[in-house]
Amino acid sequence: MIVTSAAAWLAYSSRQGKGDKVVSLKVASSFFVGLWLAYKTWCSQRSRRMAPGRFQPPGVGETIQFAMNPAAYFSKGLSRNNGSYFANVLFNPTTVVEPTPENLKLFAHEKDLGWPDYFQTVVGRSSLAMVNGAIHKKMRTVSGRAFTAPNLDSYLPLFQETTKRHLAKWAQLPDGTKSLEHIKYYTFELAQTIILGIDMEEGDCKSMMKDFKTATDGLGCLVPVNLPGFPFYTCLQARNRLVLKYQEVIDQKRLALTSPQPAGSEKRMSMLDHAMSQGEKQGEDVATDIELQDFCFTMAFAGHDTTLATMQNMLHLLDSSKPVVEELRQEISGVWDGEAAVTRTVLNQLHKCKAFTLEVLRIVPPVQTLFRKLNKDATLPTGDFNLPSGTTLAVGIRSVSDQSIGDSDEVNLQNWLDSKSAFSERSTTDFQRLAAFGTGARMCIGYKFAMDEMLVFLLTLLHNYDFTVVKRERENFPWNFWNIWTSFSPRAL
Ligand code: HEM
Repeated sequence: MIVTSAAAWLAYSSRQGKGDKVVSLKVASSFFVGLWLAYKTWCSQRSRRMAPGRFQPPGVGETIQFAMNPAAYFSKGLSRNNGSYFANVLFNPTTVVEPTPENLKLFAHEKDLGWPDYFQTVVGRSSLAMVNGAIHKKMRTVSGRAFTAPNLDSYLPLFQETTKRHLAKWAQLPDGTKSLEHIKYYTFELAQTIILGIDMEEGDCKSMMKDFKTATDGLGCLVPVNLPGFPFYTCLQARNRLVLKYQEVIDQKRLALTSPQPAGSEKRMSMLDHAMSQGEKQGEDVATDIELQDFCFTMAFAGHDTTLATMQNMLHLLDSSKPVVEELRQEISGVWDGEAAVTRTVLNQLHKCKAFTLEVLRIVPPVQTLFRKLNKDATLPTGDFNLPSGTTLAVGIRSVSDQSIGDSDEVNLQNWLDSKSAFSERSTTDFQRLAAFGTGARMCIGYKFAMDEMLVFLLTLLHNYDFTVVKRERENFPWNFWNIWTSFSPRAL
């Protein structure tokens, strides 16, 4: 604009006489000064209203500091800036949100995510965890059918049987074995069996687990080129093999739906069966084959590493809190004999075990950050900062409970129990105190499933086994967990 005005004035002045030129010069100077003052005012207003930040190296910004330890990075940034701040995180200009009640309310209303496009290529173009808008709404409805109360209850026998079998195997391992691969196989087998509803040989399951790891490594490819010779190509080949397997199962289920089943044959309903079922109105939210493939991939993607991390964090925290182990064992022995079916009634009596699970998620949340992408201008209530449309918002998960409960790393069951030592189910979704499962329309759709899985694991472990963690190492990114080396032995009862 300034250049255009200058050109116009020069053209005008070249046509004037000398006296006129002096007047024109004065007019033009005042015009430029006014323009410059307006520009400076606009700049200062704008910078005053943006969250503060410091100089960021171009492109990478503070991505490295963030990835080394997200919780420490957020905690330092929030205290250095005395609240929310602006930084380049994960190569993306981001406002890191101070977790005040008002700011968290604004965050909870936002629905959109802004992952790079190639994430969808890996996880699925209709993946619930990756998409926004109408397709997110549809996939939330389709996926939600797998998590209704009766369906969650129906998964419990499989949780119990799989957990019992794997713990018995771990007790046969040499003392001080690294636990990661063994817990990983347990959680992967459990997830695949419940998602797909098929029995798998150990070899088949392990080869799917390998393909799954190779496929999801694609998220870390900085050059996502799908051509032979590029690592991304190898990742997508692994994804294709998994998708073929999923499609085979989908075809079998479609066939079973249309062909009469032999009398007395009992069908085990899987998450996929529920997702394939229709809404109340004929044809409502019926998932296509591609959407069902993405459903299978997404549920494993979102549910596998998170539960794997939480189980290791549980073992780490139990090992370092012996009085808590005794307290939980007392509660468990009051409601379960180690053999009876684990039903909802049993789980509902485990108040302290549920409180312990939330403590594990508070102290070491497996996911460390929640992100949202704003699709319209907004203002951050605390600090009155400008949030132009397109801004990425980040909330440090640990920063939420640090602010509302305190930043202790000690297990304190009382954080989640009322005066009568009862656990309130609402604690799990109370975003002002616990952010481990996220919030709003993007909240973890599998949180009840995850809580059941953790409780069945905790119950079986504490009732039937003694264990010692002999070595531990902390991992911070992309998942937050304690890598542990453990000795298990059957408990003398
Ligand atoms: C301890 C275990 C788990 C933790 C800590 C966890 C945590 C999270 C978090 C933090 C989010 C993002 C929420 C947000 O942005 O507001 C999320 C989303 C999601 N989780 Fe989980 N999760 C766990 C287990 C599971 C399981 C077992 C499943 C499925 C079986 C699952 C399925 C999903 C899906 C599909 C989403 C995307 C939801 C959407 O965008 O609409 N999660 N989870």
